[in-house]
Amino acid sequence: MTIENFIAYNPTRLHFGKGVTDTIGKTVKQYGNNVLLVYGKGSAKKYGYYEKVLGQLAKAGLNIREYHGIKPNPVVDDVRKAVALGKANNIDVLVALGGGSVIDSSKIIGLSIANNIDPWEFMTWRAEPEKSIPLVTVLTLAATGTEMNAAAVLQNHETGHKLGFVNPLLFPKDSFLDPSFTVTVPKDYTAYGIVDLIAHALEAFFGCGEPSIIDRITIAIIKDAMEWGPQLLNDLQNVDLRANIMLDATLALNGFTSYGKKNGDWGVHGLGHELSFLYDLPHGATLSIVYPAWLRLQKTRIPQRIQKLGEGLFGTTDLEEIIQKLEAFFSSLGSPIRIAETGIDTSKKKEILKQMNKNEVSGMHHALNNEDRARLVEMMMS
Ligand code: NZQ
Ligand code: ZN
Repeated sequence: MTIENFIAYNPTRLHFGKGVTDTIGKTVKQYGNNVLLVYGKGSAKKYGYYEKVLGQLAKAGLNIREYHGIKPNPVVDDVRKAVALGKANNIDVLVALGGGSVIDSSKIIGLSIANNIDPWEFMTWRAEPEKSIPLVTVLTLAATGTEMNAAAVLQNHETGHKLGFVNPLLFPKDSFLDPSFTVTVPKDYTAYGIVDLIAHALEAFFGCGEPSIIDRITIAIIKDAMEWGPQLLNDLQNVDLRANIMLDATLALNGFTSYGKKNGDWGVHGLGHELSFLYDLPHGATLSIVYPAWLRLQKTRIPQRIQKLGEGLFGTTDLEEIIQKLEAFFSSLGSPIRIAETGIDTSKKKEILKQMNKNEVSGMHHALNNEDRARLVEMMMS
């Protein structure tokens, strides 16, 4: 019931629905004429989204430069290259066309150009940005919520980190969400997106503060995704189902579920990021492995909170049953629930634990120590 003090702020203008990118040229033009268009490794061109967006930008008479090749689990090296290109061409607005990896990279490209500071300085929280380059996004994968939030996540293989940075300057100015741009997302990534959005709701739910209305809304977001997600996996081209999951994903991490909370927990995400860093596993796939283990670790520590979730989701307060049901749901989507399912065998146990301990991965509300991390890795393995 406790509502913590909070500040609500979200300046992103969302353009949601079929055909919304038809007006993107006009929207981008209000921020400047020199555009840096950022996209990923191939899907945007392959499925025609690039052509559609480029056509609208060209029609508006904008000068367009491009940086492409952003990889899933994006790396700081790409961001640095895009920054150099952006600076050389005096760009004054960024357009990100893709999923979380492209949008997150673009957020940091904008900060780095505007402040003339190396991107990793922000990711390690050593530099405080003063300004940014306006960012317009076109989302092609429903999962992260980055289209309407102030976070970005990047990897650095030199330092051995996958880190997140949060700052109000990272909110996109405008985000275009056309669910028909997501019909080509393959079945596995569609499933990982559903897991990711559910995990975002759970991270909020297990944070500090228990505002009744937000608990109800958070559980409703998870239930919605649990209803439409499996249907979508059997009907990937269905735009209505895509639209529902897309809206769920945005709502799960646009700040709304944090009203009345001091923080979210984010320990599961931290642990998942280490698995992504080590083995390049898709983000959502790491979360379906870590969440069941985390809940088993916490079930004697926060039983009532887990029971509240279980009652809302499955109509049961039996702790092990709740965890098993969630686990079975992730599994039914085709997302792994144990590390072995990703092809990584138990011989990696030490390596995983070492990485997690080195970075002292913990939650913001539920702290984790070395012993907890050892138990968690054990449970992810067996
Ligand atoms: O590179 P391309 O060829 O474009 O292919 C991508 C990529 O291989 C493909 N894809 C995207 N849209 C598609 C499509 N394929 C077919 N049709 C389409 N319409 O999907 C693959 C995965 O893309 P990616 O952008 O990596 O996925 P996602 O959106 O899940 O983003 C994951 C990244 O976001 C971070 C994750 O850690 C990870 O690095 N996160 C960002 C958050 C944030 N900023 O708030 C929060 C999240 O918790 C998360 O940490
Ligand atoms: Zn996530």
